[in-house]
Amino acid sequence: MDLHLKGKIVVVSGSAGKEGSIGETIIKRLADEGAIPALVDRNSRGFGYAEELQKKGIDALFVQTDVTDPGQMESAVKQIIAKYGRIDAVINNVGVNDGAGLDASYEEFMDSLKLNVVSYFLMVKYALPYLKESKGNVLNIGSKVALTGQGGTSGYAAAKGGVLGLTREWAVDLIQFGIRSNAIIIAESYTPAYEDWIKTLPDGETVLKKINKSIPFESRMTKTEEIADTALFIISDRSSHTTGQFVFVDGGYVHLDRALISDVN
Ligand SMILES: NC(=O)c1ccc[n+]([C@@H]2O[C@H](COP(=O)([O-])OP(=O)(O)OC[C@H]3O[C@@H](n4cnc5c(N)ncnc54)[C@H](O)[C@@H]3O)[C@@H](O)[C@H]2O)c1
Repeated sequence: MDLHLKGKIVVVSGSAGKEGSIGETIIKRLADEGAIPALVDRNSRGFGYAEELQKKGIDALFVQTDVTDPGQMESAVKQIIAKYGRIDAVINNVGVNDGAGLDASYEEFMDSLKLNVVSYFLMVKYALPYLKESKGNVLNIGSKVALTGQGGTSGYAAAKGGVLGLTREWAVDLIQFGIRSNAIIIAESYTPAYEDWIKTLPDGETVLKKINKSIPFESRMTKTEEIADTALFIISDRSSHTTGQFVFVDGGYVHLDRALISDVN
């Protein structure tokens, strides 16, 4: 199926993670489809990613940005517009499960909100005039933590809950402009950031096995490619009547019968 993404300018926040991160995988998939990724991240790795694509003859732009800084976010959108003159879709993907729990300070809690939800607001706010022109759309990356809780991560849980709230709020707000707004909810995906977390645990391998077993479909984590492919489908005009939706790409983790898990294992 041709997703009609050729030449589309797609802004992806948090897209300069290590190779195999969700943002980096989305960028690769966009490039495969002939779209033009605009990477927004604070990590200078993004320069290398954009250069790699350019060497293959694929256009791309990296704007090094701290997404918690409103001025830098406004400037990032301006730089994208200065180069391409349009934005067709925004994928808000930045996010860190930073463990700001009930013992965190006020500042730590607020910092978590700034990174994990306020940055989503800023991106859409500054990109909106251009999304209106292109009748573009917004895709937010959510987490099961918003719905199931995790423990010890109040900031991230509140933020990802906010992300789901904003997804529906914007779907309503922006219907008048023909702009869609959706979210993908991820449960467990073995990204480099996830691996880093597992490595901090004294019994990481055991925890990993337990988590894999708890995922109903095939007792395995969601591949980043599976998330990226769903993301591309949702932002494409092949999903032209889908808005305000939470799409769970989670191997049934959040919804399926617990009894199923013991059957599988
Ligand atoms: N991996 C999972 O199992 C999982 C589960 C649920 C939700 N998610 C969500 O998926 C998304 C991507 O996750 P990932 O595992 O690929 O993470 P990742 O850590 O690889 O990606 C996060 C990116 O955010 C960037 N970043 C962090 N702080 C920044 C800042 N202040 N300014 C600009 N950039 C900043 C990092 O440089 C990195 O590139 C996140 O929103 C995460 O919450 C992941």
